[in-house]
Amino acid sequence: MTAHTFDLSALVARRSPELFDLHAETINPAYVKVLRTIGFDRPYLKGQGAYLFDDRGQRYIDCMGGYAVFALGRNHPGVRDAIKQAMDLDLPSLPGIGPFRLAGMLAEELLKIAPGNFGKVFFASGGGEAVDAAIKMARGYTGREGLLYCTRAYHGLTIGALSVTGNHEFRDGLGDMLRSSTEIPFNDLNALESELKKGTYAAFIVEPIQGKGINIPSDEYLRRVRELCTRYGTLMILDEIQAGLGRCGAWFASEHFGAGRGAGQWQADIVLVAKALSGGFVPTSAVICTDEVHRSIFSSMNNCSRIQNTFSMNDLSMAAGLATLHYMRQEQTVQKCAAVGQRLMEKIREKLSRFEMFKEVRGKGLYIAVEFHRPRSMALKLQWDMIHKLDPSLFCQAILMPLLSEHRILAQVAGHRLDVIKLSPALVFSDQDAEEVAGALEQTVEQCHRLTGPLWQVGKKLAEAKLKPAGV
Ligand SMILES: Cc1ncc(COP(=O)(O)O)c(C=O)c1O
Repeated sequence: MTAHTFDLSALVARRSPELFDLHAETINPAYVKVLRTIGFDRPYLKGQGAYLFDDRGQRYIDCMGGYAVFALGRNHPGVRDAIKQAMDLDLPSLPGIGPFRLAGMLAEELLKIAPGNFGKVFFASGGGEAVDAAIKMARGYTGREGLLYCTRAYHGLTIGALSVTGNHEFRDGLGDMLRSSTEIPFNDLNALESELKKGTYAAFIVEPIQGKGINIPSDEYLRRVRELCTRYGTLMILDEIQAGLGRCGAWFASEHFGAGRGAGQWQADIVLVAKALSGGFVPTSAVICTDEVHRSIFSSMNNCSRIQNTFSMNDLSMAAGLATLHYMRQEQTVQKCAAVGQRLMEKIREKLSRFEMFKEVRGKGLYIAVEFHRPRSMALKLQWDMIHKLDPSLFCQAILMPLLSEHRILAQVAGHRLDVIKLSPALVFSDQDAEEVAGALEQTVEQCHRLTGPLWQVGKKLAEAKLKPAGV
């Protein structure tokens, strides 16, 4: 028998026609059913920058950005090359009992840009894992168990992270979470203080801007959180996994609220990053903490690897991380994101303000929410109520489905039971892209204000689909 080299491109070409059937058969039939029902079953074949391309070469503007992992855009040539270079160096990846060659350098880069004076970095592979590590650090440091988190917070789906996630759809039916976790409303300092006073909480974990809904706190909220946490001996964990690393038009979203290392600025005890860190190529996350917190958990030779995981500091992740930060600086990705995000919001506001279902557009950088609300006129109100009665999460599909099918723009709902569309494209999104997205939104929302428009059609289609089982 002759030996053949593995030919991935031939394999991809050969099996492409079965993409959705294979996924349904071997991975998740219910998910494929959802994609097919809402017309999101597009055979994307390539990704470049802020765009996706299907098997016919048609271009889509991707406003989801792989759930916000693409800062530099898909398949950035520089980051891709850095990964290839790392492979060609034949490095002793994952030495196990030796320092990891590239990890210290990436840690150093993160410490340089972090919003505050931090001393150490712990690497993990996914965001949820980083949250779990931060929970352990806070418990180790304070000797307390309690965890405080916010309604609508999303911190991931490992059991630790899920225990501090305030979106209950993800928890229902899964049994007990960490019992010492308590939910409080976001942006509510009184609720926070009355819990902190109990003196039982190891940490308060909070996103600077909540990803589910793009909820922006008041200007003073995070600074006051810092003060209260210090007063009651609770650590402040800032989850910048999605909002950080340029997404909000600053290296860290918390900088918009005064975080930093300068005079008069405040800092959290622990800051978490992931998503954009490795250019969307290799899973990587990082827990950035103060030396003091770090010392308390890795306090002796016996427990120097008390928190660890197998793959976290692998060379490909670390090389991708180093290259991502390098090119983000070189290409001024963060500054450009701030400017284009601002213009995108202005354009959307300008185009949608005349519609009665439009409530507002809000966000920072390219972390944007377009929110809708119940219209005033009777006929539209009836349709609005009908679709919400069918399913409180359905309304946005009446906009997202035509946005994709008629305009080739991919976007997502900002969370369960919300009338909010979320836009989180790659940060290399251009003014031309902004123009196209705002124009397409205008046309789609206009159609929704017609009585037999998408609101009616989508409601009907999805109601019928819900009645069928999730088979292939
Ligand atoms: C704010 C935030 N924290 C944590 C996570 C969990 O990250 P991962 O999905 O990599 O576990 C996410 C993922 O969306 C997130 O947005």
